[in-house]
Amino acid sequence: GKRIGILTSGGDCAGLNAVIRAVVHRAAGYGWQVLGIKEGTQGLLHRPVQYIPLDLTNVDGAMMRQGGTILGTTNRGDPFAYPMADGTLKDRSDEIIGGYHELGLDALIGIGGDGSFAILHKLAQKGGFPMVGVPKTIDNDLGMTEVSVGYDTAVAVAVEALDRLQPTAASHQRVMVLEVMGRDAGHIALAAGIAGGADVILIPEIPYSIERIASKIQEVRATGRNFALVVVSEAVKTLEGTGVKKLLQGGEKRYGGIGDYIGEKIADATGAETRVTVLGHVQRGSMPSPRDRLVASAFGVHAVDLIAEGKFDRMVAWSNRGVIDVPITDAIAHYSCVELDSALVKTARGLSISFGD
Ligand code: F6P
Repeated sequence: GKRIGILTSGGDCAGLNAVIRAVVHRAAGYGWQVLGIKEGTQGLLHRPVQYIPLDLTNVDGAMMRQGGTILGTTNRGDPFAYPMADGTLKDRSDEIIGGYHELGLDALIGIGGDGSFAILHKLAQKGGFPMVGVPKTIDNDLGMTEVSVGYDTAVAVAVEALDRLQPTAASHQRVMVLEVMGRDAGHIALAAGIAGGADVILIPEIPYSIERIASKIQEVRATGRNFALVVVSEAVKTLEGTGVKKLLQGGEKRYGGIGDYIGEKIADATGAETRVTVLGHVQRGSMPSPRDRLVASAFGVHAVDLIAEGKFDRMVAWSNRGVIDVPITDAIAHYSCVELDSALVKTARGLSISFGD
């Protein structure tokens, strides 16, 4: 039997444990061993390598329901330019590759997003080891797959927030601004805004003006409704074209805070009382939705099947009601933002939701 490694890498999201569970089940079906590497590639830097043996005794009925990742993860430390304690960057890729070989693995399954895949692909090429990727990101910004694990749950959390904001908005006749995550893409804001009945959705892909937002709020008032819901994606820029919080932590791009800016501008332009909610990491931590559990399970099974077939350097992907696989380099190369002619943008426009444009 084979011995396969699995790791989670980059920001966590709901559904990671469901992928791990599916991989363990499928591998057990083949009579293979699974080693869960701890904290992404960090586990392979330690000596001895940090891992948990995974078999059917680890993956009980609770596991699929749990948020987070039982293996831990990290989004710090590109092994090719690893930040050392003294502030220098060091190429530690050989240590990671050594860690992989120390475990005597036949293949590695990496659950990650575009950043993690770029690193894993480079490591696999250099170290000559077989690798398969499973896409996860709440941002849904990976190309070549319709959905990534974690996105559906993040949208569900944002919709629930809007469901809870609506009655308090109505009671107080306020404009409620909800800032959601999504990194450089507006997918979470767009989907949650439509499903949560927002009046305005601001996404980084569509430039906005405060005048257009204000006129939408006047239109809403003209219908006799004196409150409104506004969803803002974290990467939306100020009118001056800057982010609100940026370049913290060694130049790493960080978002957050644009909701306050938009709330203030709307208050000034309309005289409405505004309140701002920044949803943040709540979007990552919950129990995975049924849809995320399904996608995670299907991905996990298919990833193990790819190893059985000897198909490597591929990413499992969701397409047209099923699972396919694509070259991982294609997924890395195709970052997916919201397309302006997409069905959801058209739907939002058809519902008279304003993008502020
Ligand atoms: O990529 C997932 C994500 O949650 C983004 O939506 C967000 O911008 C970022 O990660 C937050 O990163 P961190 O967890 O490091 O604060």
